Amino acid sequence: MIEKTFVDKADRLARIVPHVLAQRGLEPCFSDWVLTRSGRGDVWLYGVLDTRKIARMERYTSPDLLHQVSTVARGVPVYPSNTNGLRYGFLLSGRPRLPGRVDFPGIERGVVRMGVDLRGEVKCTWDRLGHLLVAGMTGYGKSVFLRLLAHQAIADGARLLLADLDGATFPMLVGCPALVAPIAGNPQEAHSVVGLALGECDKRAALYAAAGGFPDSLADYNHLAVKSGEDPLPRLLVILDEYNATAVALGGARGQFASDTAALAWRGRKFGVNLVCAAQDFAKETVGRFRDQVAPVCFRVQSKELARSVGCSEAVHITRPGRAVTTRWGVFQAYYLDKSDLATAGAGGAGVLSADELSLALWAIEQNDGYLALADIQARADAHTGTGACTDAGARARTHAHGGQGYARRLASAWEVRGWLVKDSQNGNKRRVTDDLRQIAYKLKTLKTLKTLPTNPQTDLQTDLEQSTSLQSAELARDPLADVPGALVPIGYGLYKPAVKGLQREITIITEVN
Ligand SMILES: Nc1ncnc2c1ncn2[C@@H]1O[C@H](COP(=O)(O)OP(=O)(O)OP(=O)(O)O)[C@@H](O)[C@H]1O
Ligand SMILES: [Mg+2]
Repeated sequence: MIEKTFVDKADRLARIVPHVLAQRGLEPCFSDWVLTRSGRGDVWLYGVLDTRKIARMERYTSPDLLHQVSTVARGVPVYPSNTNGLRYGFLLSGRPRLPGRVDFPGIERGVVRMGVDLRGEVKCTWDRLGHLLVAGMTGYGKSVFLRLLAHQAIADGARLLLADLDGATFPMLVGCPALVAPIAGNPQEAHSVVGLALGECDKRAALYAAAGGFPDSLADYNHLAVKSGEDPLPRLLVILDEYNATAVALGGARGQFASDTAALAWRGRKFGVNLVCAAQDFAKETVGRFRDQVAPVCFRVQSKELARSVGCSEAVHITRPGRAVTTRWGVFQAYYLDKSDLATAGAGGAGVLSADELSLALWAIEQNDGYLALADIQARADAHTGTGACTDAGARARTHAHGGQGYARRLASAWEVRGWLVKDSQNGNKRRVTDDLRQIAYKLKTLKTLKTLPTNPQTDLQTDLEQSTSLQSAELARDPLADVPGALVPIGYGLYKPAVKGLQREITIITEVN
């Protein structure tokens, strides 16, 4: 359903745009006017031109003409598209805007979920993520973003090496079992953290060599390792907050710390190491040391020079915390993750409870007096998965055992090792959940569940970045019809009564079929 105000706007444009062309001596050879709503909810009017009647296409797309058209269109953005014929796209609903805050929707195993852009979610595997350089002035979202990464790494069973000089970013992870070493609190300790990571690379290099088959990624190695009965290696996430201050304290861009970090960036990827260096500022030479190895994620920065030196000039226009400019993913709004959520993950140790595990724990606590027998686990895993829906428990039950029995035993022993499940000697050795698991389960229960994006992003107004960035307009200037899925079905001519007589047949209203 397209609202009347858009139909009226479309009607007006279909009348006046041909005049603008005619005034400039161009034939207004429009063959069609199409009004549609894209998959994202934007309303577009397309004026389709008959290219057979056009001698010089470039005169129809000159910036000058487009500017005049946009002016008579009262500022409605106009995008020419000549990938397939020639048409003007008028974005009647205004430029889409990113929401100001989007809560982290929850863990997706093996995937780093970073935030949302105009096309949807920004996410990738850890392998594709590689190394990051996170820049941003105080208060614009670095720490929240670093916690978001750490949270997902923990949930994915990765190990962590952290440097947090002022202790403000990761206080909730002190003592977290996923840490390889205590959190570094001064430059020397940060240097040791890098040393430990390099040592791990050496160890892994030896394991890779022994594995044969020349693995060149962690996935490759783990594949070989599992085949030959070895333990798979976990991913290692190294986060160095206050990176620049650390580098300055330890000899600058040419100092040993910067050299070792650059070496880690260079070597680590193959061995499943993700390195993240964050700071409010980065000296140009410091960036230069690993520019080719890291992808910049730039929150608001004050200095144009810094923005430019990390390749994200637009970042000086950002006004909202959590908004990031990147060279790899364009502009996105990073997910917001509350500190307490990371604390929960930290308390849970390597691997928070999956949704199925949480529901199992809650069932035991709330409906079974805290008892959880192997048969209960098995029955609930089977019931949950039915014929094997794709849940964690289901997947594990299917891949690791013939039926849920193996899964139940493994889960029980994993929980016993963590002190979450004990055998109650007072009660015939029945397995019972402990207070630790109870606490974790209740904390997790209060975690926010998936929140979908606002259906109308414009209700969350933000006026800055999108208005001014070439990145965004480049995004919008892509052939807009390319966004409209599959079949387009006219729902009829003359569905509305246009103000001007004779126009009924000229505007087609189309809708999408899913
Ligand atoms: N992704 C986000 N979405 C919405 N709001 C955010 C987001 N990230 C940060 N904020 C808001 O900005 C505030 C400051 O964020 P954060 O602590 O991450 O800043 P910082 O860049 O680490 O600053 P500093 O350099 O001082 O450490 C947060 O408390 C939160 O209110
Ligand atoms: Mg911070």
